[in-house]
Amino acid sequence: MTMIVTGGAGFIGSNFIFYILQTHPDYRIVCLDKLTYAGNLSTLAPVMEKDNFRFVKEDICDREAVYRLFEEERPEVVVNFAAETHVDRSIEDPSIFLQTNVLGVQVMMDACRKYGIKRYHQVSTDEVYGDLPLDRPDLLFTEDTPLHTSSPYSSSKAGADLLAMAYHRTYGLPVTISRCSNNYGPYQFPEKLIPLMIANALADKPLPVYGQGLNVRDWLYVEDHCKAIDLILQKGCVGEVYNVGGHNEMRNIDIVKLICAELGKPESLITYVTDRKGHDLRYAIDPAKIYKELGWLPETCFAEGIKKTIRWYLDNRSWWEEIGSGEYQKYYERMYGNR
Ligand code: NAD
Ligand code: DAU
Repeated sequence: MTMIVTGGAGFIGSNFIFYILQTHPDYRIVCLDKLTYAGNLSTLAPVMEKDNFRFVKEDICDREAVYRLFEEERPEVVVNFAAETHVDRSIEDPSIFLQTNVLGVQVMMDACRKYGIKRYHQVSTDEVYGDLPLDRPDLLFTEDTPLHTSSPYSSSKAGADLLAMAYHRTYGLPVTISRCSNNYGPYQFPEKLIPLMIANALADKPLPVYGQGLNVRDWLYVEDHCKAIDLILQKGCVGEVYNVGGHNEMRNIDIVKLICAELGKPESLITYVTDRKGHDLRYAIDPAKIYKELGWLPETCFAEGIKKTIRWYLDNRSWWEEIGSGEYQKYYERMYGNR
């Protein structure tokens, strides 16, 4: 079975490749990645030499290159992780988000139509549902919650979801979609909340909490997300959307305080900064469908997952120190310099 995994040099895609190569050694994985600032080839070093793994540096928006790869590999399954993923960058400049997250998805699905495919899986996000109020803990996102986006990032992801469902209905493309909550774990780029706070705390730098830190996210250990996608590929129904989340809602400020405690750093490092524009208040996934229909349940609780994650960042300093230099330093200065 040949599977194209796009965006496999990024955070979740790389974890997915490791998981699949370990659990399905009979699969052949072809990773297609443009290696943007968020993609890091060194992450894939442990699998680079494997006979059943191939890395191809291409852009999902490049139709000719994508078709060439399909011609060569004739994949049966495509899992699309490739995307611009950082909300703050999408607020700064939406263009590349529309390019990759919408038009790139169109190219990938056109290739699937042209060459034939058993499954196209679109990795989406809970952000397509917008946000929930902080004072209504009874409300959760279900697959029937209307799309109601807040940022250019989430709008681009919602556009891709709608396009994927249209390709299923109009052309009969065998599409599935997963909408997951916030992931954390090894290999996450240090612009995102958890690795950014770990990296800054270790350097005794200020910990920039947006607004009052009261916004809530529903955190899931990355391997549990990978397992959910594998299950959807094996047992999911085409044309269906599956929400993936761990019933693990936490306020940002509590996460940052927990990181301080784990690292033995003072909470005085916490600095409240100007809020994100259009900042979503709360995300909370109802994962009942994937549990009832496919038997998926998260396996790593937050208390264990955050310890494993912090340990990983302590043990792999060179990985994030290296990618945290260069372009990222300029971004950091732009984003936080005057905040
Ligand atoms: P990431 O930013 O860490 O990695 C994205 C990867 O995509 C990088 O390797 C990058 O080089 C590659 N890429 C970007 N543009 C490309 C293009 N035009 N062509 C080919 N490759 C390209 O992202 P992530 O956090 O691993 O997210 C992966 C997917 O999961 C995204 O689609 C995201 O929307 C979705 N998602 C993320 C989360 C989360 O918490 N991180 C939660 C739910 C869903
Ligand atoms: O819910 C899934 C989504 O989770 C994914 O689709 C996105 O790709 C992913 O980036 C993530 O989006 P968030 O905006 O929730 O993640 P981020 O890590 O950027 O921020 C998490 C929360 O922390 C959010 O409320 C903003 C806040 N925050 C973030 C940063 C970077 C801060 O307070 N300070 C910061 O410096």
